[in-house]
Amino acid sequence: MYFKPFVYFSNFLSWLLSPVCIFIKRISHPCFKWILRKTTGLCELQRTCYCEPSGAPRILGIEESLNNSKIAKVHILIQFLDLAAKEKRFTTAGSTQIIRNTVETICCIKKINLDSHQPFNKLFGECVSIIWSLKQLLHDLEGIRTTGYDSCNLEHEKTLLELWNLLMPMTELESRVCNAWKDIGFQGDDPKTDFRGMGILGLENLHFFAKNYPDVALQVLSHSNHPTHGYSFAIVGINLTHLAYILWKDGAAKSHIYNLCCHHLQVPGPTLLHFHRFYCYLFIEFDKLWMSEKPSSIMEFGRIRSLFENDIRLLLSNPNCLLKLNIPVEHV
Ligand SMILES: *[C@@H]1O[C@H](CO)[C@@H](O)[C@H](O)[C@H]1NC(C)=O
Ligand SMILES: *[C@@H]1O[C@H](CO)[C@@H](O)[C@H](O)[C@H]1NC(C)=O
Repeated sequence: MYFKPFVYFSNFLSWLLSPVCIFIKRISHPCFKWILRKTTGLCELQRTCYCEPSGAPRILGIEESLNNSKIAKVHILIQFLDLAAKEKRFTTAGSTQIIRNTVETICCIKKINLDSHQPFNKLFGECVSIIWSLKQLLHDLEGIRTTGYDSCNLEHEKTLLELWNLLMPMTELESRVCNAWKDIGFQGDDPKTDFRGMGILGLENLHFFAKNYPDVALQVLSHSNHPTHGYSFAIVGINLTHLAYILWKDGAAKSHIYNLCCHHLQVPGPTLLHFHRFYCYLFIEFDKLWMSEKPSSIMEFGRIRSLFENDIRLLLSNPNCLLKLNIPVEHV
């Protein structure tokens, strides 16, 4: 509530500036930048905050502008923020101070008057918070991915057995190591070896999907058991963890992530929950594509997977992209 007046003011300012904005957007030549700065009195970061719509267009604009800065101090600041993300200092308690210092430093470097540019401080601070929260989350994901499945870890074992119970609620698992794991698409008697590539992240994704969208997960599982167009549910699921991870890591998913963050203002940045949901989206959409392609055997996996990856990358290349879970309601 406290911030409302600033939001109104910045929206008003954007509206006021919009005809000018159309002109000055995306002009990146240093000479133009200098002229713009002289005529509008605004630096590129300010113009991006006021002119670009909230979400991915604005946040990507800020990120690019910081990256391309010619000022050494800006790069020192970036390194400082990168280190803070690596050391996991973007916590509920820690973020506020880091963001405040960053905004003050930028205002000092760019000679922006802190008091007369309140909306800029807020908008720019939000962008910085989201950009580096994502970087921090990527470090977290990397940690989970490189944690191998450990049969001695009770937490791992519990999650795995829960996955079975969620997917096979009517069937009791006769023993921890047995042939029945193949029914949910693992390769052998003990699923632990199948997690190799993606570690515990693969298990956590599968578990999240089965736990939070049980109806859809069971439906996808039944598709995977199709007599002619079947596939290995768990193995494909682990492979889709890989795809989700790559799309987040290489930045392709930023459009979706940044748009998501600005539609859920109560969270300062993306969390593991958003990664899991993104994964569920991929699994549901992959299953749809697979069923519509009617592949004659699992040998077509490589082809369909790369077709799928291209489709998703195309969607994500739109800066307004926001992927929404389409929960199919086939069997009502
Ligand atoms: C900014 O630089 C970082 C680190 O080199 C890179 O990961 C990121 O994709 C860049 N962002 C943009 C929008 O260019
Ligand atoms: C997923 O499948 C693709 C294509 O077949 C392959 O290149 C990739 O290594 C697989 N990833 C994992 C973790 O199995």
